[in-house]
Amino acid sequence: MGGAEASLLDLLASVRAAEPEWELRLVVSGEGPLVRRAEALGVPTTIIPFPPAVARLGDAGAGGPAGRQFSRLTVLGRLLVATPSILAYVRRLRRVLRELAPDLIHTNGLKMHVLGPRARPRTVPVIWHIHDYISRRPLMARLLKRDADRCSVAIANSRSVAEDVRAVCGRALTVKTVYNGIDLECFAPTGSALDLDALAGLPPAEPGTVRVGLLATLARWKGHATFLKALALLPPNLPVRGYITTGSLYQTDGSQISLAELKTLITDLGLTTQRVGLTNFIDRPAAAMRALDVVVHASTQPEPFGLVIAEGMACGKAVITSCAGGASELVEDEVNALTHHPGDADELAHHIAKLATDSGLRARLGAAGRVTAERRFNRSRLARELIPIYRQAVSPLN
Ligand code: GLC
Repeated sequence: MGGAEASLLDLLASVRAAEPEWELRLVVSGEGPLVRRAEALGVPTTIIPFPPAVARLGDAGAGGPAGRQFSRLTVLGRLLVATPSILAYVRRLRRVLRELAPDLIHTNGLKMHVLGPRARPRTVPVIWHIHDYISRRPLMARLLKRDADRCSVAIANSRSVAEDVRAVCGRALTVKTVYNGIDLECFAPTGSALDLDALAGLPPAEPGTVRVGLLATLARWKGHATFLKALALLPPNLPVRGYITTGSLYQTDGSQISLAELKTLITDLGLTTQRVGLTNFIDRPAAAMRALDVVVHASTQPEPFGLVIAEGMACGKAVITSCAGGASELVEDEVNALTHHPGDADELAHHIAKLATDSGLRARLGAAGRVTAERRFNRSRLARELIPIYRQAVSPLN
């Protein structure tokens, strides 16, 4: 799951615990772990699969966060081609929503922000939960700006994202910041740990090796290249092994770095298997983090929130983050994390080397991180903040 899906599950769990009488229903666009986990929480799920033309459609690679893989005109062309499928999808969604007869619709992804208001029963309020910078999405920014008056209130996952939504949609749209929350019992310093060497197909690292990992989707801006360059800059005899978890998640055109590109980069940088390993997609991130000494967040663009930062801190690990966007609202440099400038491989390498040679610093940052996570990222807070927003949207006059 990506961060937006993971955070949705925490939200469902939090609201379920606070309001056990409420009926929660999830409508999703495809099979996957989100469905199984929502069902396990007692949230019945309806899958209305996106047709391939809609699943692939995306503007991230048209000058958006994935760079310029293709032109805006290409996106518009694909949008035109996909239009009949989109209209058919809205009709299916409308039928399902009519049957579910909700009091409120909470949309959690860019496509659903646009489709939800078109498919809802007429008087049902829609709340957008915005997890990404919409100003960076050439097409989505236009659509959401145009649709802002169909949305009762927007929730943003950081102050920085809230500002971005206001800048795109105008001040008439109410935007509230609700930081993500996580399960602090699952993301905890003690518990099972994965054998990352085995998962990466590597011989066990030498005793005393410091394990440093980047756990991220393969979105182009998550900084895989920066991380690999930083590993290549480390003194050769420093006992550090880096890990990247891979596995493609989204099907959106051009938005992902491929495994082949990663492998080429590793070869070009002269990185050996002693220095770096790639694992498949790991769906137990807490157990992966517990196997690490240092959790790296290396996004090269402002990170809307950065769930992995909160998770790494909650696991009591030393965390290195890139300091832009919402991510910089989560940490205090040198207190509960070390920060580097987005894309600055030298600075990242410097921090990795510093932590690799100073176990006391790792322990201090890890302990402070756990305290921060307990204070700020406990998911029980989500219900406390969201329920008044829901009530207000359903009965604006109260
Ligand atoms: C999106 C954002 C990420 C955030 C997650 C949960 O994936 O890119 O920064 O942590 O949503 O809100």
